[in-house]
Amino acid sequence: MTTLAQSDPAAFTDYLARHEKKSLLRFLTCGSVDDGKSTLIGRLLYDTKLLFEDQLRSLERDSRKHGTVGDDIDFALLVDGLEAEREQGITIDVAYRFFATDRRKFIVADTPGHEQYTRNMATGASNSDLAVILVDARHGILTQTRRHSFIVSMLGIRHVVLAVNKIDLVGHSQEVFHRIVADYGAFAADFGFETQVAIPMSARFGDNVLDHGPNMPWYRGPTLVQHLETVTIGETDYDKPFRMPVQWVNRPDLDFRGFSGTIAAGVLRPGDPIVVAKSGRGSTVKSIVTFDGELDEAFAGEAVTVTLADEIDISRGDLLTSPTDRPEVADQFAAHLIWMADEPAMPGRPYLLKIGTKSVPGQITEIKYKIDVNTFGHLAAKKLVLNEVAKVNVALAEPIAFDPYAVDHDTGAFIVIDRLTNLTVGAGMIQFGLRRASNIHWQALDVTREARAMQKGQTPRVVWFTGLSGSGKSTIANIVEKKLEALGRHTFLLDGDNVRHGLNRDLGFTDADRVENIRRVGEVAKLMTDAGLIVLVSFISPFRAERQMARELAVPGEFVEVFVDTPIAECERRDVKGLYAKARSGRLKNFTGIDSPYEPPEAPEIRLDTMRVTAEEAAELIVQRILGEPSGPAI
Ligand code: ADX
Repeated sequence: MTTLAQSDPAAFTDYLARHEKKSLLRFLTCGSVDDGKSTLIGRLLYDTKLLFEDQLRSLERDSRKHGTVGDDIDFALLVDGLEAEREQGITIDVAYRFFATDRRKFIVADTPGHEQYTRNMATGASNSDLAVILVDARHGILTQTRRHSFIVSMLGIRHVVLAVNKIDLVGHSQEVFHRIVADYGAFAADFGFETQVAIPMSARFGDNVLDHGPNMPWYRGPTLVQHLETVTIGETDYDKPFRMPVQWVNRPDLDFRGFSGTIAAGVLRPGDPIVVAKSGRGSTVKSIVTFDGELDEAFAGEAVTVTLADEIDISRGDLLTSPTDRPEVADQFAAHLIWMADEPAMPGRPYLLKIGTKSVPGQITEIKYKIDVNTFGHLAAKKLVLNEVAKVNVALAEPIAFDPYAVDHDTGAFIVIDRLTNLTVGAGMIQFGLRRASNIHWQALDVTREARAMQKGQTPRVVWFTGLSGSGKSTIANIVEKKLEALGRHTFLLDGDNVRHGLNRDLGFTDADRVENIRRVGEVAKLMTDAGLIVLVSFISPFRAERQMARELAVPGEFVEVFVDTPIAECERRDVKGLYAKARSGRLKNFTGIDSPYEPPEAPEIRLDTMRVTAEEAAELIVQRILGEPSGPAI
């Protein structure tokens, strides 16, 4: 479908100019596959006359071709842009549409109703002021109506319209309408929406969409468009305290230094005082520069470059804010999280979190509970899978500035990024900062890690052995330790089987438990290198992400990854502990290499082919590599 902008740019510019002064309402529609959502949006666009003749003609043609509604125009075809969904009859992505009436402009996000598309709904909802929740009058309130309402409320939308659609198919029955409204009220009361209006309608025939129509004289409330035109949304982004995440520092020459970004909230004028949220350093705005020249004021949503009266330290990712109403700064917070990846979310696993323009390494420290989006019940969980929603605690590698999501959707939302694939795997909404960490400070110790290492006459190391069960990790690590011991080195061997008898006694072999197992051992290894030791770590450690985390915990250059690369067939042939036999017979579940994954290292410092070298030779090689380089990163 061509847009107005494409088919007639001049008319589009004119159109925008006429509508510029009107307020904007962003809303989203949610409904199940057959509730008539696309038909409703098509009807809104059609009745508000935004369509051009050529679009109408092609629509009439398409309707006849697909023939889903006889000779009438099928409004769903107007908005269902994707070929795939025409064929399957479902909507699978978020589409934004723009239309206007004499009183207001609208942007509508059309989001899918399918269960597995919670993430798409979250995408469409994040900027919306209002949600139109569709139900089919024949079916009433369904599980997905509850789910949509829950997600809408979690995403901070305070205004809801319950559109009881297809009312023509129940004889325009007032009784049916009232029953559905009562059913909805029973559970929606808990969400405390600011406005909640129910409208009986027929999107297909247009009743109560723009005009009332002749079929429901018993209904005296507003039509959908009347309501959308008049509903008061309350505080807008302009009314909030000033916030601007710095996208980049613009320094074309020595005379100019500007900070570019999109204003997330509030209004900015030259002369306004600002502070950098995290450092607390302040200055005043000298000028606001845009592509078209300097501005006297700039509003939320505008992309600008700000210059300041003073040279203060500001870099990409910093948040410029008003000095009086400042955001929180913390490195731990409680949040709602929607998981969007096939790969499950696991506490303790390192991710990147992106808040505004700032990316920081971080992890989920705890899943407090996951939320059944159909019943709103709280369930215990060790991991989250695709489309699951949970309340979690998050810890970051450094403090960040944020507002609670309820206060500001822009500065209170974050996305979670997988560090290895760089894909977005989750979206979160911050509830509040956790103070527990802010009252704990690093204690300065007089005996430093350097002093401890020097006293022992060695460079501390983490020698990390990874490989399948039975690959020979512990055997080789044991010989390495004996050799180092004989050479007067100070060592310690952390072995999976042993540590699992004590510190990690509470952990089993699920993926989530293995993540936590390695997280703890990584931390212990780090402490031991602080004590000056050469630490040998012998754990299967099947996941790249956690080995990477252990590496990053270590001082650069002190981490040596040793991949004990023994083919599974050989490990199984040896089967020293008889575990492979058990796993093959099904008596042992989640066994690495059989029904639990092993991700081989891509660039280990040392790779041992145990089919070619003996344990003794392997150990000798490792000792030489460790001691051959008394200091410095190269091993
Ligand atoms: S890890 O995957 O979390 O790193 P870890 O090295 O601590 O595993 O423990 C592995 C040892 O536990 C194996 O050498 C084996 O003796 C024992 N074990 C018991 N059950 C399993 C299992 N399901 N998978 C792997 N190892 C197991």
